[in-house]
Amino acid sequence: MAPVLEVVGLVKQYGSMRALDGVSLRIEAGEIFALLGPNGAGKTTLIGAACGLVRKTSGTISLFGTDLDVDSVSPRYQVGLVPQEINFDPFFTVRESLRIQLGYFGRPANDAWIDELLAALSLTSKASAQTRALSGGMKRRLLIAKALVHKPKLVFLDEPTAGVDVELRRDLWNYVRKLKAEGTTVVLTTHYLEEAQELADRVGVIDKGKLLLLEEKDALMQRLGHKQLVVRFVSKVDALPAGIIGTLSRDHLEMQFVERAGTQTSAQVLSALFAAGLPVADVAMQPAKLEDIMLRVLKGEGAAS
Ligand SMILES: Nc1ncnc2c1ncn2[C@@H]1O[C@H](COP(=O)(O)OP(=O)(O)O)[C@@H](O)[C@H]1O
Ligand SMILES: [Mg+2]
Repeated sequence: MAPVLEVVGLVKQYGSMRALDGVSLRIEAGEIFALLGPNGAGKTTLIGAACGLVRKTSGTISLFGTDLDVDSVSPRYQVGLVPQEINFDPFFTVRESLRIQLGYFGRPANDAWIDELLAALSLTSKASAQTRALSGGMKRRLLIAKALVHKPKLVFLDEPTAGVDVELRRDLWNYVRKLKAEGTTVVLTTHYLEEAQELADRVGVIDKGKLLLLEEKDALMQRLGHKQLVVRFVSKVDALPAGIIGTLSRDHLEMQFVERAGTQTSAQVLSALFAAGLPVADVAMQPAKLEDIMLRVLKGEGAAS
């Protein structure tokens, strides 16, 4: 099966500014792909090019096996976009704007489905409200509903949870999982690394218009993720046993050890602490964080093929 999205050597030049500098990637059907990177990295530009909102300078983009240079219209009927910026016509009600959106995509009116979508996004009570009267969080919910109303096979979510409340974030995460379960492909950009860690099957890291890394999230976490062992002591400890790589806190009541491949394991450190008779009160393992990995990748560590 053709990939849902295939980008080859994509370049976007804004004057002298190269927003995308030869990006190539493939997104397969049914995956949740998180595109990560600092502000200005090129994430929105890449999504814009795939959705036909940004004119590329060079390179190719195919959706569902169709090169957009050959046919830029029909593949886009299968694509939904939740844009980073809130922008919609303020003169309609919530229900009207969803009906209009269905019309844009050549779909028949379907109020039963609109009701289902409104319920899923906790917008039912706002169905007859004017969109301009909605709160920021409700506007964002409507943007998401608009991107999904024509049941696209590929959905782009560009920073969908920037500045939204915890409740909407949780609703959205659940909805993204539901979309995936139904076979929808999701491309997500986000500043919340915990969001990507929670949802993504695969992760891409982009910086200054170049893809630095493209990898299965679990493999990446295995490869570059460092678990951390934290041990608290009952009373102050003078020093750690010789040869232990951990660091003692300033008050001498806690030890931290970052697990790295090829050195000591947490188990070895713990048994050395016990063998030395140190007064261990409590032991905790902290899992690896995608955020730490991202920071290291952006500093130039751990680039993968
Ligand atoms: N319409 C535009 N005109 C000029 N420069 C732009 C335009 N849109 C984006 N850029 C520049 O392109 C770069 C990438 O921007 P963007 O894709 O929005 O990054 P991200 O979404 O990763 O924060 C930035 O340096 C930005 O200033
Ligand atoms: Mg952006």
